[in-house]
Amino acid sequence: MPRTVRDVVFVDGVRTPFGKAGPKGIYHETRADDLVVKAIRELLRRNPDLDPARVDEVAIAATTQIGDQGLTLGRTAGILAGLPTSVPGFSIDRMCAGAMTAVTSVAGGVAFGAYDIALAGGVEHMGRHPMGEGVDPNPRFVSDKLVDESALFMGMTAENLHDRFPGISKQRADEYAVRSQEKAAKAYADGKIQADLVPVSVRRTNAEAGETGWGLATVDEPMRPGTTLESLANLKTPFRPHGRVTAGNAAGLNDGATASLIAAEDVARELGLPVKMRLVSYAFAGVEPEVMGIGPVPATEKALAKAGLSIDDIGLFEINEAFAVQVLAMLDHFGIPENDPRVNQYGGAIAFGHPLASSGVRLMTQLARQFEEQPHVRYGLTSMCVGFGMGGTVIWENPHFNGGDDK
Ligand SMILES: CC(C)(COP(=O)(O)OP(=O)(O)OC[C@H]1O[C@@H](n2cnc3c(N)ncnc32)[C@H](O)[C@@H]1OP(=O)(O)O)[C@@H](O)C(=O)NCCC(=O)NCCS
Repeated sequence: MPRTVRDVVFVDGVRTPFGKAGPKGIYHETRADDLVVKAIRELLRRNPDLDPARVDEVAIAATTQIGDQGLTLGRTAGILAGLPTSVPGFSIDRMCAGAMTAVTSVAGGVAFGAYDIALAGGVEHMGRHPMGEGVDPNPRFVSDKLVDESALFMGMTAENLHDRFPGISKQRADEYAVRSQEKAAKAYADGKIQADLVPVSVRRTNAEAGETGWGLATVDEPMRPGTTLESLANLKTPFRPHGRVTAGNAAGLNDGATASLIAAEDVARELGLPVKMRLVSYAFAGVEPEVMGIGPVPATEKALAKAGLSIDDIGLFEINEAFAVQVLAMLDHFGIPENDPRVNQYGGAIAFGHPLASSGVRLMTQLARQFEEQPHVRYGLTSMCVGFGMGGTVIWENPHFNGGDDK
């Protein structure tokens, strides 16, 4: 049977506002699966031309797949979101790149012809499921010196990256973090973020008063507008005495969910669905787990090579900010100035938060919005580092590209 690879597009993406993990966080009383269900429902609500029965697959990522993040989330969230029972689903895990891998996995299926339309996203409730909950690493990792012990602790790998690149000082990391907060505050003020957020009703409790009624989460809780270099200068370095990584220049511990619609371009056009980005190439790559933050470098080189593009062809970058040092290492590698206006125009995870397996689709949703506003840009990329020494990069083409005429 002859086969034709089909063009794959990003139709739409939404997310919940991100919360701070823990008893004081907005989602403390909210189930993880309910967060991703909310995102899926919103995606279907705002794409009424899509008959939910046309969805061929639901891939939902979570890093800790137990409790309310267990039970094959793609399937259970699909049913809870009201998709017909005929729509199958599965769950997926590549730690921080979970949602990104959900997208690339279903994209492969779309290109191959197994699916016309699929849903891909992720969720992480780090309050209910702290990083590393229930893990049982094989002792051979350390006893056989396969990895250094620090490889298991992401903050320590960020300190290792500072060691590897002495030119990336704490000062540079803090300056980067301040800019991320400034850009995120500006993006909110300009209304760039809200359009892709779905408000979530939340039960409020407080230690003294007990339950205090219901509220509505409408904005990212972790944001710290007004952050200054001075306010970051003396924060503790929890991962190493006299280290460089702090709560100010790292993403926090967060709760949140994302969802996106991925489709064959011809099907999207036939159904009148939006076409926000066209997939060009993607790649994942492994690096030494002790310096996992450098993962985006080989992943990007691989994705660029597959696309036949160079870094100079990329007009917009959405890079996950697990740690400032890791973004700076990538920018330095490619010779991109750290305040380059093409990079994280709306700010990044240092400001918005990073609920691990959900973040990949946040990057894509933001890139899609930037594509729409900047038709002179042809290509953009989303990239992230991944625990245990990996990176992932997806290159996208702007369907609104106008030939660069208005540049
Ligand atoms: C770094 C980390 C340990 C900090 O956790 P935390 O101590 O609970 O963080 P907090 O939000 O309470 O911040 C700690 C302090 O820094 C302060 N702070 C944080 N960001 C700040 C900012 N932008 N400006 C000023 N102060 C700030 C807080 O106010 C707090 O001060 P306090 O101790 O006086 O209350 C945690 O966020 C972490 O582990 N991050 C990395 C997550 C990760 O590994 N993800 C996976 C990536 S691969």
